[in-house]
Amino acid sequence: MVKIAPSILSADFAKLGEEIKDVETGGADYIHVDAMDGHYVPNITIGPLVVEAIKPITSLPLDVHLMIENPDNYIPAFAKAGADIITVHQEASKHLHRSIQLIKANGVKAGVVINPATPVELLYPILPEVDLVLLMSVNPGFGGQSFINSTIQRIEQIATFRKEHHLDFEIEVDGGINTKTAKQCVDAGADVLVAGSAVFNHANRREAINEIKDAVKG
Ligand code: DX5
Ligand code: ZN
Repeated sequence: MVKIAPSILSADFAKLGEEIKDVETGGADYIHVDAMDGHYVPNITIGPLVVEAIKPITSLPLDVHLMIENPDNYIPAFAKAGADIITVHQEASKHLHRSIQLIKANGVKAGVVINPATPVELLYPILPEVDLVLLMSVNPGFGGQSFINSTIQRIEQIATFRKEHHLDFEIEVDGGINTKTAKQCVDAGADVLVAGSAVFNHANRREAINEIKDAVKG
């Protein structure tokens, strides 16, 4: 069964607690938190303070996607704030094994993420160490962008590597997920789909989540 991780980037921040409860009761599996610093990506969003504030209001795992420079400087703070999964960009980490080890040393599941134009082969050395691989299907920075189709082949490539090396990390896809692209991703091997606008721009979040879960079955 595919997992849905609504991205709170598209939620109404004036009532963030209610928005998170709404997707939790609507069947979400993770809460995806997009942390952006205005340097690594051209947008500024959420820091550890917000993670700490939402931690007590949900029992879902907090899936924290760091789009920040020098991620090692902030991993302990996000872990302390209550992140359950912390994912760092291959492109933003100077020493990727060190970042992954630091996440695990802070008692959190470790993920690695790459942008659509980065060759997936660059992830191979780190794959035995991670709990999650996040493939960006848009360029990071904003919600509501269109899915980049070459992602499908990249999911297949990572899924093949996972099988051949008997690994068990989850494959997550982020950006431009809708009922059509969701099915393509799951058919290619994705386990978790981040969905921002597809969930939060829908008046009924349960319906939005069910539409995606139903679409991948067909
Ligand atoms: C983009 C973020 C995504 C974004 C997805 O940088 O990492 O998580 O919120 O939004 P949608 O689903 O609207 O493309
Ligand atoms: Zn994200």
